[in-house]
Amino acid sequence: MLTIGTLQLKNWLVLAPMSGRTNLPFRLIIKKMGAGLVITEMISAVGLSRGQGKTHTYLDSHPAERPVAAQLFGYETDSMAISAQIAAEKGMDIIDINMGCPVKKVVKTGSGAALMRDPKKAAKILSAVRQSTSLPVTVKIRAGWSPEEANALEIAKIAEDCGADGISIHPRFASQGFSGEADWTLIGRIKRAIRIPVIGSGDITEPSLALKMRSETNCDGIMIGRAALSNPWIFRQILDMEEKGSFDTPDLDDRHRLIMEHYSLLTEYLGENRATNVMRGLLLLYTKRLPSRGFLKGCISEIDGRKRLISAVDRYFGNVREEMESEG
Ligand SMILES: Cc1cc2nc3c(=O)[nH]c(=O)nc-3n(C[C@H](O)[C@H](O)[C@H](O)COP(=O)(O)O)c2cc1C
Repeated sequence: MLTIGTLQLKNWLVLAPMSGRTNLPFRLIIKKMGAGLVITEMISAVGLSRGQGKTHTYLDSHPAERPVAAQLFGYETDSMAISAQIAAEKGMDIIDINMGCPVKKVVKTGSGAALMRDPKKAAKILSAVRQSTSLPVTVKIRAGWSPEEANALEIAKIAEDCGADGISIHPRFASQGFSGEADWTLIGRIKRAIRIPVIGSGDITEPSLALKMRSETNCDGIMIGRAALSNPWIFRQILDMEEKGSFDTPDLDDRHRLIMEHYSLLTEYLGENRATNVMRGLLLLYTKRLPSRGFLKGCISEIDGRKRLISAVDRYFGNVREEMESEG
C-alpha cells in the first residue's frame, strides 16, 4: 500500500502523467485496470490561473477515477499556488508539480526540468504550493538537467524540507530525453536519503519489472507510462503477479472490446470528430504486438468517422483471427 500525505491509495501502482495521453477517458480505463492512482496530463499553471482557453478542461474528472492527481507545470510562484487551489476546488486529490519535463517549449520558460537547475526557485514554488492547499503535494523529477548537473538528490531533499508528501523520479537526465536506460540505482539512493514516499518511473515494460524495480530500490510505488499505452492491462497483471505469481494475457476479444470501450469514452468526452482522430493514433498502439498491422496502417488515413472506424477495427480483428487460425 502507498500512502501520500493523508491519502491512502489502494495499491502501489501509479499511471504516469503523459501529455496528450492521460486524459479522462484513458484514466478511467486505467483505473478499471487496477491502478491505485492516476495523474492528469501536465497542465499549464499560467493558463489555468489566467483562465486561458480550454486549460481548465484538463481538470475535468469523474468520481470513478478517484483518487486523481493534477500535475501542474509553471515558473511563477503565484500562478502555481493559484492553480493548486483551482485544482483542489475542482475535486483533485493530489497536486503534483512537474520538475522533469525536458520539452523545449516548457523549459525555455523556466518550467519543468529547468526548475531542477534553479533549486532556490524550485523551493519557492514548492513552498508556495504547499501553503496554498491542504491537499498532499508531490513532485516529479528527473536525474537532473545533464550528467554535469546531476542534482536529483539535492532536489528531493529540498522537496522534503518544503513539505512535499512524495517524490516521483524518472532517472534519466533531461538532456537524455528518452535515450539510454533509466538508472534505477538513483531511485534507491533517493529512497535511502529521504523519509517521504518515493515512486520510481522508467522502463517498466512488463509486470516482472515492476516487482524488480521495487525489490532493487525499495521504492514505495512505481509508475507506468509508455507500457500502459499498448498494454493497459499491465496494472492488473502486476497485481496478479504479486498475489499469484502469474498473470493472464488479454486475448483478441479482450483487446477488441477495450478499443471499443475506449472509443466510446473518448466520444462521450471529446465528441465524434476528435475522438476518431485520437483513436486513429491509439489503434496502432493497441495493436503493437499483433500481426496484420499493415492492413490497419493502410486504411487509417481513410478513417474519418465512427462508421469507418468501427468497420476498420472489425475487419482488422477478423483478419488477425483468420491469420491466427490458419497458422493453427
Ligand atoms: C507521451 C509522453 C508524455 C509524457 N508527458 C509527461 C508529462 O506531462 N508530465 C511528466 O511528468 N512526465 C511526462 N512523461 C514522462 C512519463 O511520466 C514517465 O516518467 C516516462 O515516460 C518514463 O516512464 P515509462 O518508461 O514507463 O514510459 C511523458 C512521457 C511520454 C511517453
